[in-house]
Amino acid sequence: MKTDKKRMGANSFVLVVINIQLVSLLMMEQKIVDIKNQAVEIIKKVKNSDELFNLEKKFLGRKSEFVGILKGLKDLSEEERRKIGVLANKTKGEIIEIILKKKTELSGQRGSEKEKIDVTIPGKKKEIGHLHPISVVRRDIEDIFTSMGFEIADGPEVETEFYNFDALNIPADHPARDMQDTFFLKDEKLAMRSQTSSVQVRYMQQHKPPIKIIVPGKCFRNEATDTTHEHTFYQFEALVVGKDINIGNLKIVAHQFFSAFFGTDVKVRLRPSYFPFVEPGFEFDISCTVCGGKGCRACKGNGWLELGGAGMVNQNVLEAAGYKCNEYQGFAWGFGLERLAMMKYKIDDIRLFHSGDLRFIRQF
Ligand code: PHE
Repeated sequence: MKTDKKRMGANSFVLVVINIQLVSLLMMEQKIVDIKNQAVEIIKKVKNSDELFNLEKKFLGRKSEFVGILKGLKDLSEEERRKIGVLANKTKGEIIEIILKKKTELSGQRGSEKEKIDVTIPGKKKEIGHLHPISVVRRDIEDIFTSMGFEIADGPEVETEFYNFDALNIPADHPARDMQDTFFLKDEKLAMRSQTSSVQVRYMQQHKPPIKIIVPGKCFRNEATDTTHEHTFYQFEALVVGKDINIGNLKIVAHQFFSAFFGTDVKVRLRPSYFPFVEPGFEFDISCTVCGGKGCRACKGNGWLELGGAGMVNQNVLEAAGYKCNEYQGFAWGFGLERLAMMKYKIDDIRLFHSGDLRFIRQF
């Protein structure tokens, strides 16, 4: 009886072990099926390849539950190992297939984007801007004058009547104002400056001689436009003030500048003229850079080109700046900047500069 019991005990032990193995076998199978179902569900919703990469790791990576199950196979009997092994391999294959399918689906999305990039299509040319001819000329002028020790000064384009006229010895009722009819603002004491000479007194009030400046900038006049006149144009003023400044200085500085600017020996000529803010005053000409002074169409046959006004600064202007009368002398000029650009680039109509016509601008 005792032995029987013992035998029975042994038998039921075997039975229990078998049952446990059976249960764990079923559990393993279930687990594998669960993993697969989970993989199918989650991978379906994947939106990008990074997510997919992480899921591949999660489901099939070295540390995945799935691989954990496969590692446990070694504890099973040969027959069970085979059974689970077949199921595991089949499931693994299925998960891989789902992943691959998703991969092609995702790369298909990218693929269609990629296909839009056709490497054989000629590239889009980048439009690179460049300086307007006026800016080029302005920079050239500035370079030459700074190399001669001049400073570049600036002033407002909307100017007071005082700096544009009164301080320059042009009182309100003076007929010289008619020569420079400009655009007044609602506040009648303000106008668009008609000349860069407006910066003369502004600058002198702030600085003591010796003064050597040029003032390149925009000016405005209310006038009928033609090939040589514009309502908006550029000038560049020069102002040199100190002790013993004379007309010889004006001529030599101008000669040096024009020769450097045109790269050839340019002659300068002064003709007596009138501007209220200089005494004596001149019209300023240079020898024609097209024909060298022999006479051609550009200079209307006389060999000279007019550039603007010049002269010795009137003592009234120096006084308006706060200097004592006759303490200093100075010379000044105001030349048209477009004139120089027109000569340099052989442009025959000043209106082209502000025309906004790209066919013109693209030539520079
Ligand atoms: N400002 C004068 C003009 O625009 C030119 C000029 C400048 C004349 C300086 C003499 C001295 O007409």
